[in-house]
Amino acid sequence: MVEQRLAAGDVGLLVNNAGMSLKGGILENEPAAFSRIIALNVTAPTRLAAAAGKAFVARGGGAIVNVSSVLALAPEMFEGIYSGTKAYLLNLSQALAAQLKDKGIYVQAVLPGATRTDLWEKAGRDVNSFPEGMLMEVGDMVDAALIGFDRGETITIPPLADEVQFTAMQNARLAMAPNLSKSAVAPRYRLPLAG
Ligand SMILES: NC(=O)c1ccc[n+]([C@@H]2O[C@H](COP(=O)([O-])OP(=O)(O)OC[C@H]3O[C@@H](n4cnc5c(N)ncnc54)[C@H](OP(=O)(O)O)[C@@H]3O)[C@@H](O)[C@H]2O)c1
Repeated sequence: MVEQRLAAGDVGLLVNNAGMSLKGGILENEPAAFSRIIALNVTAPTRLAAAAGKAFVARGGGAIVNVSSVLALAPEMFEGIYSGTKAYLLNLSQALAAQLKDKGIYVQAVLPGATRTDLWEKAGRDVNSFPEGMLMEVGDMVDAALIGFDRGETITIPPLADEVQFTAMQNARLAMAPNLSKSAVAPRYRLPLAG
């Protein structure tokens, strides 16, 4: 239904916000739970971004906001399935931002840190037990995301004070990119020569 609404062409902004976490991780959950989280956190935003992207190209512009998570950058901090879905959404956002910018379409990935919402209780976690200073109020997170939107940022990380930490990682990644597809095996993986 939302896909059809987007395809109708009268919507100019898609916010992919719906998402869930799991109670426990890969060892504590059954396949149905993995399917549920992947359907909501991966399949749904992908389908909606595709429908919006096509409609926005046809109408000559639009914006897609994908709510990812800082866990996309810090998989070791959580159970791995949730963070994996959020890494997917970050990756998709970066690729779409690059592909669609010349068509007048703006794509933003928002990476909140721990934020005071119902998500934590649903995941069986008590936010009051979080270390002091770790939890952001939802209004502050959304205000920061909107400032990032107004600035045209591709990636907005509301809690990250030192932006250089992120840009250094991005620059290192982009510098590595031309070296990632080569006909020759890297020397460290070559078998030792006989004799
Ligand atoms: N809270 C955090 O610490 C945190 C940190 C990083 C990223 N995020 C991300 O922020 C986004 C918003 O989450 P939240 O923290 O606000 O959690 P939340 O309070 O649990 O809200 C989740 C939202 O997703 C919707 N939703 C859940 N299951 C759905 C389904 N099957 N179909 C359609 N909609 C569904 C809910 O709609 P209903 O209200 O109608 O159920 C609700 O609007 C998520 O993508 C989450 O991963 C949250």
